Amino acid sequence: MKNLILAIESSCDDSSIAIINKESLECVFHTKISQENEHSPYGGVVPELAARLHSEALPKILQKCQPYFDRLCAIAVTNEPGLSVSLVGGVAMAKMLAISLNLPLIAINHLKGHIYSMFLDKKANFNMGVLLVSGGHTMVLFIDEQGEITELARTNDDSFGESFDKVAKMMGLGYPGGVIIENLAKQCQESDIEFSIPLLHSKDLAYSFSGLKNQVRLEILKEELTPQRQSKIAFAFQKAAIAHIMNKLEKIFKKYSFKRFGIVGGASANLSLRSQIEHLCQNHQCELLLAPLEFCSDNALMIARAACEAYERKDFVDIQADLISPKVKHLQGKL
Ligand code: KG4
Ligand code: ZN
Repeated sequence: MKNLILAIESSCDDSSIAIINKESLECVFHTKISQENEHSPYGGVVPELAARLHSEALPKILQKCQPYFDRLCAIAVTNEPGLSVSLVGGVAMAKMLAISLNLPLIAINHLKGHIYSMFLDKKANFNMGVLLVSGGHTMVLFIDEQGEITELARTNDDSFGESFDKVAKMMGLGYPGGVIIENLAKQCQESDIEFSIPLLHSKDLAYSFSGLKNQVRLEILKEELTPQRQSKIAFAFQKAAIAHIMNKLEKIFKKYSFKRFGIVGGASANLSLRSQIEHLCQNHQCELLLAPLEFCSDNALMIARAACEAYERKDFVDIQADLISPKVKHLQGKL
């Protein structure tokens, strides 16, 4: 029976392919090759390097998928947002597969994929609030029962994850900064360094991390950066960044009485953020939904899962069309 969907994700620095059974939602194949080690010396993703590494990794993974080809019913691919030179690799491969296997092509928005990471092997049940925190985006959404998305808050500048990356880079600690900073912060119980929480007294439901990044930069310049000072800075930075997320979330929770709330995106793996949101949900008698830790960061399974819904709606795209929109900032429409 032809009931498998093959999905490709290459929007940033992870090359990943997954195959899902669209009826049972069973993951029959999933592999990801991360480029973190290659980008680490540069303190961030180098687009040309990312493109070259995708062109090596994706065919390698695809070779392992061949035994499933005769059971495929569609090809899905992340087409937005992301680095254009990275997206191109996945989209070109998806088009080539759709043409050669004569299958419909499905284009998936990467952020919608992250939202489906909460429902990888189960039916999606929305009517919930969602915090999406990744390297490129920070937003709070309301998703109604029909899957219609409303944006409640977003960042005016850097994203939450990106601010961890930039702080790690400023201290010469490599990339990606999220895990590095979280682990450094754990080594410090208390810090005599304190950063002010962005937009604390503003009524706006908006985030901003660039001022906090600047506070960190000035602190780094003050005196020699010993390992002890690094962990104090990491601790104080993470404390202020999460306090900023929580301050706006508390306001949002008061305004919208969510019955359910989810956290998705690569930075949703931060354990301190998870536990503070767990607390907030308990106080508001709100159910908390999380993606499994290994599927918080970019992966093709979340794209495959989102594609199952698109397949049902026959939401197929024209193979001739230019599908790539690297800079999409707002998340609108239906899931
Ligand atoms: O979703 P993702 O894998 O890629 C994008 O779509 O951007 O998110 C990656 C981002 C990076 O900025 C990374 O530093 C951040 O998520 N991140 C974290 C943690 N783990 C990953 N940020 C804070 N704490 C973490 N534990
Ligand atoms: Zn992502």
